[in-house]
Amino acid sequence: MKSSRKLSPTIIVIFGGTGDLTKRKLIPAFYNLYIDGWMPEKFAVIGLGRTKLSNEDYREHLYEGLVEFSRKGKPDDAQWTTFMPAISYFESNINDEAAYKGLAAKLDAFDKEWGIRANRLFYLSIAPQFIEAATVNISKHKLANVPASDRIVVEKPFGYNKQTAVALNQLLGNTFQEEQIYRIDHYLGKETVQNILAFRFANALFEPLWNRNYIDYIQITVAEQVGVEDRGSYFENSGALRDMIQNHLLQVLCMVAMEPPISFQAEEIRNRKVDVMRAIRRLRHEEVHKYAVRGQYGPGWINGKKVPGYREEAGVNPNSNVETYAAVQLYIDNWRWQGVPFYLRTGKRMQEKTSSITIQFRPVPHSTFSSSQAGNLMPNRLTINIQPTMDIRLRFTAKKQGLEMSLNPAEMVFNYDTCSTQTPEAYETLLLDAMRGDTTLYMRSDQVEEAWDVITPILETWESRDSLDFPNYAAGAWGPESAEALIARQGHIWALNLHT
Ligand code: BG6
Repeated sequence: MKSSRKLSPTIIVIFGGTGDLTKRKLIPAFYNLYIDGWMPEKFAVIGLGRTKLSNEDYREHLYEGLVEFSRKGKPDDAQWTTFMPAISYFESNINDEAAYKGLAAKLDAFDKEWGIRANRLFYLSIAPQFIEAATVNISKHKLANVPASDRIVVEKPFGYNKQTAVALNQLLGNTFQEEQIYRIDHYLGKETVQNILAFRFANALFEPLWNRNYIDYIQITVAEQVGVEDRGSYFENSGALRDMIQNHLLQVLCMVAMEPPISFQAEEIRNRKVDVMRAIRRLRHEEVHKYAVRGQYGPGWINGKKVPGYREEAGVNPNSNVETYAAVQLYIDNWRWQGVPFYLRTGKRMQEKTSSITIQFRPVPHSTFSSSQAGNLMPNRLTINIQPTMDIRLRFTAKKQGLEMSLNPAEMVFNYDTCSTQTPEAYETLLLDAMRGDTTLYMRSDQVEEAWDVITPILETWESRDSLDFPNYAAGAWGPESAEALIARQGHIWALNLHT
């Protein structure tokens, strides 16, 4: 087993240690980093929670999570046996000061044992209403008093609207310096999303075309087949716009639309991304109906199984006005993108699970071919499939084999499956970056606030007016018809495959 000797000893403290995220994502990520040799030689993971649990019970609970959710499946016995002792459980209440004293003693004991002041990574995987108590107490008890090596990772939702996001940034800013704060958006850790930067800025071929002169429009789709699962009550206070567009889709848009950074330094990349957020045209309230569409799923069929509508889900108001689907048409007011529509859509209970970016190039300026030859002449298109299919496809036109000149669409494909190594999970990449002190893939305060600003007029308009046609798409469909109309107005359609 390799060891990542470059990393200093690190103690990871997880607030929300008994929560779903810890079991499904965080521990599998740390474990896989460990077996792949990326963890520091000395590390400890302390899970905090209110439930009474022994270390053994806690480890057993996390082990089950690994079996079910780790990309590598059931852990190897020998590897688990060496990893497991690094995990401990600390029963505590976020509001209880004594707990922080106990935690401080625990942290000090590790420092003493290791003979070094270890790096500290506090991971806040807790509901927003508990963040204040956690940060105030971390500060009061001087748990993160070495800015160079103590960090805090904050999970979404990052605020409920712009005002609460600003307040949260201020709260965190009172305790930590900006470079210690890691606002996580797991989409930025996805291999295929990170690759956008390599694709754009490590190739000379595409960038000269990457602008309004050659690109007709861009689509970003994140479609899910799952419904709200057991998160009905969370979703009732969120909706698709807050849950997905404010963060994941706008972050992906920034990667696609940003100017070339002069270096791969965190601040440089974040500056270029924030430039995009600032340039996104803000909608006026009265034009929201023209540029944004909301939907809610009714009952329907997914993979041959009947599934309930959103209003029938546990924890959901039977008259809920919350959207499970959102599509928006945005414009970026700068030289590169003036006039190019960016269509973003996301929804639950859609026909397929698929996340992709479609870059549709302009048609050829003049057709050399007769109409019978050019029957299938389609504009070039670049598709970046983020998940579950992971590939990049370039559609071009080719001559159909045969004795006549007849045209057909063809594709060049880069498929990640052809690479030999297994793709790391987004959380592996992001947690390793946090341990290394690299903020590049995390969101800065201004970026988050700008993203809220972009969606504020839509949020306010939707909240002020009930949607009269909910539910307006059946589970298993591609969303409401109004989303087709939104894009058809410009003569466009949502991309599905090579032939659309
Ligand atoms: C989360 C949302 O941030 O992202 C969920 O809260 C959503 O509602 C999830 O299901 C999607 O993530 P992924 O990685 O499965 O596409």
